[in-house]
Amino acid sequence: MALGQFITLEGGEGSGKSTQARLLEQRLRDNGLEVTMTREPGGSLFGEHLRNVLLDSKTPEHSALSEALLFYAARADHLENKIRPALAAGRWVVCDRFSDSTRAYQGYAGALQLEAIDTMDQLVVAPTFPDLTVIIDIDPAIGMARADQRRAERDGSNTTRRDRFEGRDRTFHDALRQGFLTIAANNPGRCVVIDGSRDADSIGAQIWQVVATRLLQEAGT
Ligand code: TMP
Repeated sequence: MALGQFITLEGGEGSGKSTQARLLEQRLRDNGLEVTMTREPGGSLFGEHLRNVLLDSKTPEHSALSEALLFYAARADHLENKIRPALAAGRWVVCDRFSDSTRAYQGYAGALQLEAIDTMDQLVVAPTFPDLTVIIDIDPAIGMARADQRRAERDGSNTTRRDRFEGRDRTFHDALRQGFLTIAANNPGRCVVIDGSRDADSIGAQIWQVVATRLLQEAGT
């Protein structure tokens, strides 16, 4: 059996990564591969429970460390109950956000020391680091407008219904974008940056080219 590969998609708000995760899942399936599609925060029963707490705008204020520990608590459960069993069974795992989101949101754009994230990564994630991380880069002004539009289409709400992270100011979203670009620059063997301003089909084609050249040949499929 070909080895399963672990692919994560990352980016700021409205970058289109969830759409791309679904397109990638379909393409992998079309190529005869078994795929587990998942997301963070969430992905497991406990993880989805914590997702509600983390994103709820009514959740009481708490420290950056408390928040990061909750993300990693959800991640530990997600890895143990979903990601590792899937990879062990030879399945490909496509995950919409993973620990680079903690590094970008809580680290580079937030108040948490990067060393604390390194420590939690070693404790929780190692040795299951992604084989490939696709970072979709988008101007935060475009991304936030897209996220607002998507929310309005979904449930008729407006910008006042942004979740705890979407609702932060432009400085936060600019720092977030730079954070993701720094992560990519620091991890060139694992990360690829894709221009998210293009249409979904062009972005999908670019991602597929990266997956095909970097992973499909390696996995012997
Ligand atoms: P989503 O909008 O992609 O579903 O992600 C939910 C929100 O959670 C998004 O605003 C990013 C945020 N987030 C973090 O702040 N840290 C993390 O580690 C993860 C996984 C998500």
